Amino acid sequence: MDMKFRAGIITASDKGSVGEREDMSGPAIRDMIEPAGYEIVSMKVLPDDEESLYQEMVRLADEEKVDVIFTTGGTGLSPRDNTPEATLRAATKRVPGIAEAIRAYSLKITPRAMLSRAESVMRGQTLIINLPGSPKAVRESLEYILPTLEHGLEIMKGDAGECAR
Ligand code: MTE
Repeated sequence: MDMKFRAGIITASDKGSVGEREDMSGPAIRDMIEPAGYEIVSMKVLPDDEESLYQEMVRLADEEKVDVIFTTGGTGLSPRDNTPEATLRAATKRVPGIAEAIRAYSLKITPRAMLSRAESVMRGQTLIINLPGSPKAVRESLEYILPTLEHGLEIMKGDAGECAR
């Protein structure tokens, strides 16, 4: 199959990173994006430390040069939820509409969607998108954004000329 984009996946989970909880959300992302033409370059489970999450985003963007990084987890209100802060530190441009769209769609499913502080940004030529932590939330978010994301990534890469409908 012709892979259109290169992707990295980061699961932010203290428990997952030490093997106390099986990561179901990283695989949920992989299972949705691979058939859509995304090559999975890297998939890691990291603790909820801002620094290690930030370093992995920088590595994936600057060294691996992936087109898109999906994170899952660490977007809520607990003291150990640091994914949006790591994401904003890595950002060179804001792309707020993707996170807004995920929240708007998700609010129709659960009011708890308001509790996700997820961000979406660019770092150079890499799009970074935060998804909430549960596999259910991952699937709900991706089913909404994936069809449109393709067009955004093509524009980012210079493969699509105009934003014609
Ligand atoms: N979004 C969708 N689509 N579906 C969900 O079930 N769960 C919410 C929210 N967003 C949810 C969702 C809940 S319960 C929380 S606490 C926040 O995401 C933050 O999740 P996180 O801390 O695991 O990132």
